[in-house]
Amino acid sequence: EKCDIGVVGMAVMGQNLALNIESKGYKVAVYNRDHDKTKKFIEERASNKNILGTYTYEELAKSLNRPRKIMLMVKAGKPVDDVIEQLLPNLEKGDIIIDGGNSHYKDTNRRFKYLQDKGIRFLGTGISGGEYGALHGPSIMPGGDKSAYEEMKDIFEAIAAKTEDGPCVAYLGPSSSGHYVKMVHNGIEYAIMELISEAYDIMRKVFRLSADEMHEIFKKWNDEHKSYLMEITYKILEWKDEETGKPLVDVILDSAQQKGTGKWSVQDALDLNISIPTINAAVNARTLSAIKHERLEIGNIFDTPVNNSLNNDFINSVRDALYIATIIAYAEGMKLLQVASSEYGYGLDLSEVARIWEDGCIIRSALLKPIQKSFKSKPNLVNLIISEEFRKDFENRIPKLREVVSEIKKIGIPIPAFASALDYFDGLRSKELPANLIQAQRDFFGAHTYQRKDKEGIFHTEWQDIHNI
Ligand code: 6PG
Repeated sequence: EKCDIGVVGMAVMGQNLALNIESKGYKVAVYNRDHDKTKKFIEERASNKNILGTYTYEELAKSLNRPRKIMLMVKAGKPVDDVIEQLLPNLEKGDIIIDGGNSHYKDTNRRFKYLQDKGIRFLGTGISGGEYGALHGPSIMPGGDKSAYEEMKDIFEAIAAKTEDGPCVAYLGPSSSGHYVKMVHNGIEYAIMELISEAYDIMRKVFRLSADEMHEIFKKWNDEHKSYLMEITYKILEWKDEETGKPLVDVILDSAQQKGTGKWSVQDALDLNISIPTINAAVNARTLSAIKHERLEIGNIFDTPVNNSLNNDFINSVRDALYIATIIAYAEGMKLLQVASSEYGYGLDLSEVARIWEDGCIIRSALLKPIQKSFKSKPNLVNLIISEEFRKDFENRIPKLREVVSEIKKIGIPIPAFASALDYFDGLRSKELPANLIQAQRDFFGAHTYQRKDKEGIFHTEWQDIHNI
């Protein structure tokens, strides 16, 4: 009896996904470049399971029902190309390759075309939910060959997280749409993580709260968010270091790393002339955190003590600021998706994107339900900020975000994501911005021309007598 699907790459994500698929009644073939890893998996976690270890790509291909479905769970970048090259001689027309890693969407476009020419169907598929999600139900974001999705649909739906609105998977669109959606998911992920961390920073530095006290606060706040990132935050805050007995979070070095997806979101937003300032701030905050040695040197010169004149009510304002800034982070991400969708021809249904993020993924949250509703009733909604679903929240909580940003700025604690979220809101609602002056400056020094408020056309002024310079 042949296998229903193959999984290449036996790191934890690949193992867990294979186990998840098997648990739903499918027979799975697995392969890993390092054969010992495959052997160990087969002998231990996959023992007595309907999982077959294979040790060459030929053996893998021969073990699979046609059309073959092969899921790549290898590191993004060159490893994906290497595996594809080695798989190809063993595949036949109509077979399906699914890339389940965090590949750059431009790589996915390239691979999609390359494989299409060879008659191989390709699905660039974002998978979110970490190790736990891979095993118990991730959010799955596939894009690419539609007929390949139809063949994969049953397996995807079986293994995905489930909500009352269905399994957290949907065919998103052609070519790289799935990986693009996953990239933006990660951009939003970066922004929410940074916003939560800034709220934590305010509470520990201004109010001198302990990790245990903040554990209680975030836990309470999460009644409203019901979000995975808030949930892991309060769990982290009560965790004690075995060696020192201190809260583990206090022992961890404040230098954040990143693998690129957040940065890619910002890079692509810039290319599309889209402003996603909160996500941008989150990427920059990680970058700045990583130069710890420079911060120590500069901090020694400009060391400023934090004096607190704020009363405890302020913490409730931080709660409201975090809530509304989180909505703004989603708004930025959805805007980027909306524009990318029309620019790249993805034809994304944003309410479906919100729906498949409702569970399984890292940015799952109670907020995704009203986000889903917003785009369901208005697919071309100009911005989530003006959704009826959030009208009251914006009215009530923007003043709190403003209070938090202005008070914390006086103290001198960096809150780039909070500040950027507020600037995004203030910028968007400004009927008048000072860009008229920028246009005048451009025209002055470079004859770049400008448009007028009172009549149509392109204008230029001879601001200076160039012959007399
Ligand atoms: C997920 C995550 C995951 C991602 C890291 C990104 O949705 O499960 O987004 O896919 O790899 O969380 O992490 P960095 O912080 O290392 O960029």
